[in-house]
Amino acid sequence: MESEKTTTLNLIFFGPYIRPSYPILLLIFTFLAILFLQFSTRSLFPLSILLDQPPQPTTCSAFFHHVPPRKIIKSIVDFGAVGDGKTSNTQSFRNAIRYMQRFQNKGGSQLNIPAGTWLTGSFNLTSDFTLFLHHGAVILGSQDPKEWPIIEPLPSYGRGRERLGGRHISLIHANGVRNVVITGENGTVDGQGKMWWELWWNRTLEHTRGHLLELMNSENVLVSNLTFRNSPFWTIHPVYCSNVVIKGMTILAPLNAPNTDGIDPDSSTNVCIEDNYIESGDDLVAIKSGWDQYGITMAKPSTNIIVRRVSGTTPTCSGVGIGSEMSGGVSNIIIEDLHVWNSAAGVRIKSDNGRGGYVTNVSISNIRMERVKIPIRFSRGSNDHPDDGWDSKAVPRFKNILISNVVSVNSTKAPVLEGVEGSSFEGLCFKNITLLGGALSAKWRCEHVAGFANGVFPVPCPELLNNGTSSWC
Ligand SMILES: *[C@@H]1O[C@H](CO)[C@@H](O)[C@H](O)[C@H]1NC(C)=O
Ligand SMILES: *[C@@H]1O[C@H](CO)[C@@H](O)[C@H](O)[C@H]1NC(C)=O
Ligand SMILES: *[C@@H]1O[C@H](CO)[C@@H](O)[C@H](O)[C@H]1NC(C)=O
Ligand SMILES: *[C@@H]1O[C@H](CO)[C@@H](O)[C@H](O)[C@H]1NC(C)=O
Ligand SMILES: *[C@@H]1O[C@H](CO)[C@@H](O)[C@H](O)[C@H]1NC(C)=O
Ligand SMILES: *[C@@H]1O[C@H](CO)[C@@H](O)[C@H](O)[C@H]1NC(C)=O
Ligand SMILES: *[C@@H]1O[C@H](CO)[C@@H](O)[C@H](O)[C@H]1NC(C)=O
Ligand SMILES: *[C@@H]1O[C@H](CO)[C@@H](O)[C@H](O)[C@H]1NC(C)=O
Repeated sequence: MESEKTTTLNLIFFGPYIRPSYPILLLIFTFLAILFLQFSTRSLFPLSILLDQPPQPTTCSAFFHHVPPRKIIKSIVDFGAVGDGKTSNTQSFRNAIRYMQRFQNKGGSQLNIPAGTWLTGSFNLTSDFTLFLHHGAVILGSQDPKEWPIIEPLPSYGRGRERLGGRHISLIHANGVRNVVITGENGTVDGQGKMWWELWWNRTLEHTRGHLLELMNSENVLVSNLTFRNSPFWTIHPVYCSNVVIKGMTILAPLNAPNTDGIDPDSSTNVCIEDNYIESGDDLVAIKSGWDQYGITMAKPSTNIIVRRVSGTTPTCSGVGIGSEMSGGVSNIIIEDLHVWNSAAGVRIKSDNGRGGYVTNVSISNIRMERVKIPIRFSRGSNDHPDDGWDSKAVPRFKNILISNVVSVNSTKAPVLEGVEGSSFEGLCFKNITLLGGALSAKWRCEHVAGFANGVFPVPCPELLNNGTSSWC
């Protein structure tokens, strides 16, 4: 890159001239020296994001290493399961997994779920394993809370997210596995979450609700081409994972179902979320990394995450969110080609006092929105802490956040940017943004933020005015 630039510059500057004068040479030398300095120190974020960003693959393929066909393929029927939607198949699923564990590192295994409705409690996955749901296959989550046993809270949360102590295990659970594929011909996993939402609404929930799919401490996992519905809580939760691809999924929950986030990568590395349709009662995608002092202590960031070609709606929440649990840090995030409609927010960065951590190197671009109330929003939580041990001096840091190429029609509010008092902003840039709306109250609301804006309508708040030092924005 360097030498190429130099050559081009040489051509431009020296090409037509035979013998440039010394002052001109000196000038050119100084210019090149500055350019070199900027490249080598990577001090200019947009340069680094354009020329220098860590792997910016055009597909998810770099994040999932292909697995060979499995040595053994079985159907859930081979383990005595009955697909009538009434018979409990918990034991069949658990027996199938126990059987298939022996093929880890020995050629791998595949469990097929044929057409039919297969009622089951929670079961675990194993390594070198494929779960394949044929067309018409439905895995139905048990309505008996005891079939979703209580497991330890996550160390980066210190407790269940909703209730103190342990939390219900997810319907499909994986801990410490590798080379796993969950796919099929658009078969369905249905968590029958209604009962759990009611427990939440009527305040009789004893332990934090379970996810539809949770991947913990796992590596090289592909989740694709399926429909996930009615999760009790966040739908897909990769936590402490690396190399996870979630692609071609349809994720559905009633638009009022509480906390039914679509996909929440949490303290994970190399996660690619693309070509998904999501409609639910909470954020379509939310990038997280632990909660207050527990997340700060564990210090496991979410990094190298791509969210691309995600579309959908969530009337009370956001298209893509970062936080509010971000205490382990969030960095190197690319969010692009989103289409969000009828939602409360398009992109939202949530944090709070006590969170600590950082949000760094985030590029959000090519966002299309219709009827989104607040297209761009930064917000503070509302006194949402795990316990009294949180540190009021732990404020988040924000650095190198670029939001560009955004069009929003029929929005109702200009961006609302509420930072956290005492938090720092460095390199916050809004560029090429058009927000339209009949009733759009055109005034941005900004508190505790600082940055730059270029080509933005409506005119941003003074905190974002370009004062000449931001030719890059
Ligand atoms: C599944 O894994 C969890 C923890 O990872 C464990 O507590 C539970 O006993 C396992 N369930 C089965 C059926 O093996
Ligand atoms: C998969 O099924 C869902 C739910 O029925 C449907 O909305 C979606 O379009 C299907 N996806 C594909 C690729 O057929
Ligand atoms: C709360 O909802 C659950 C699940 O629907 C139900 O079983 C329970 O009776 C309800 N409790 C109250 C107090 O309404
Ligand atoms: C999804 O399904 C399509 C159509 O069957 C197939 O071509 C594609 O390879 C699948 N993708 C993944 C990632 O499983
Ligand atoms: C942000 O990006 C720059 C330039 O690529 C890199 O040097 C820096 O380590 C990144 N920051 C984090 C926290 O990953
Ligand atoms: C501005 O953004 C729009 C889409 O939001 C895009 O079509 C256009 O090319 C962008 N303009 C520039 C100069 O990047
Ligand atoms: C925006 O609102 C106007 C006026 O209500 C309506 O005519 C138009 O169809 C809306 N467009 C979109 C994309 O929502
Ligand atoms: C930038 O200019 C605006 C408007 O003139 C002013 O309110 C703001 O304090 C300036 N910011 C800096 C960092 O100089």
